[in-house]
Amino acid sequence: MTDSPIVFSGMQPSGDLHLGNLLGALRPWVLEQHLFHNYFCVVDLHALTVPQDPLLLAAKSRELVALYIAAGIDPVRSTLFVQSHVHEHSELAWILGCFTPMGWLERMTQYKDKSRKSERERTSSGLFNYPVLMAADILLYKTNFVPVGEDQRQHLELTRNIANRFNGLVGETFVIPEPRIGHMGAGAKVMSLQEPGTKMSKSAESDAGLIALLDPIDQVRAKFRRAKTDSGTGVDLESPSAGVANLLEIYRALTGCTSDTLRSEFDGIGYGQLKDKVADRAIAAIEPIQARYRELTADPATLDAILRRGADAAREVAAETMSAVQGRLGLLPAAGG
Ligand code: TRP
Repeated sequence: MTDSPIVFSGMQPSGDLHLGNLLGALRPWVLEQHLFHNYFCVVDLHALTVPQDPLLLAAKSRELVALYIAAGIDPVRSTLFVQSHVHEHSELAWILGCFTPMGWLERMTQYKDKSRKSERERTSSGLFNYPVLMAADILLYKTNFVPVGEDQRQHLELTRNIANRFNGLVGETFVIPEPRIGHMGAGAKVMSLQEPGTKMSKSAESDAGLIALLDPIDQVRAKFRRAKTDSGTGVDLESPSAGVANLLEIYRALTGCTSDTLRSEFDGIGYGQLKDKVADRAIAAIEPIQARYRELTADPATLDAILRRGADAAREVAAETMSAVQGRLGLLPAAGG
């Protein structure tokens, strides 16, 4: 296990974890867990880039940890921890920021999208620096692979550029990480059930298009029943509308089935039947996660112990990287340290 390639990934503890997160990220992490030495992080510092309610943030952080485990992350096999518990993340982010040209950050499309929505005057510089903190997350652990969705590809490329620039300017320090996108048939990009042109997302205006992993089961079924299709009457596999294609893609990701199976199961069937079949599979995936989640949250002491162990293990590696970085830069080691 010590020689296994290192994987790092994380999610923000804001909003409700949903089917898109499960099929696009969490499940691929779980399926490949045994192949790697893994770090799975709850990136609470990233959540602070936009205003948060403190009580809600704390609750959501615990909820996300419990959902990671409920979905199959094994906290013994993988290091599971909360970003703010390991202060090296903030520390390295500052240093990397000093090696990151503004122009690189100004080109990040996610920042441009997010800061266009609100006004520039009110956008935090934290949002601007978000990708630098993400680079610190990744580089602290000598990460080889970062399993993320397509939307994070540009951030990964930036991480690689920052690491290369640092290595070039002050000497070989960081491992250059590779993105791992779309493995385990998990290119699964799940779209909103109501606006199938946009990703299923916690920032969408209404939650009718979003299947949260903790939604009551009858609500899950109702949301699938109301999913947008089109005015046709049955599934046309040759040219499905965006809504129908999304339902088929969700089914494919949930079952791992081949396109032949999709064809024999769905070609020509009515939309009502299609929605029911997809809902059945989604519920079969979500129900056991909810059961396990309830067990875990009933026992806060165990969850705390897992987080303590995770942070201790992470800190050990992070501290090593930080001293290498400090040495390279001429930052004095603390006396007695
Ligand atoms: N930016 C990522 C997202 O929104 C979350 C994240 C933060 C992350 N740090 C990371 C993902 C490090 C992978 C590795 O999905």
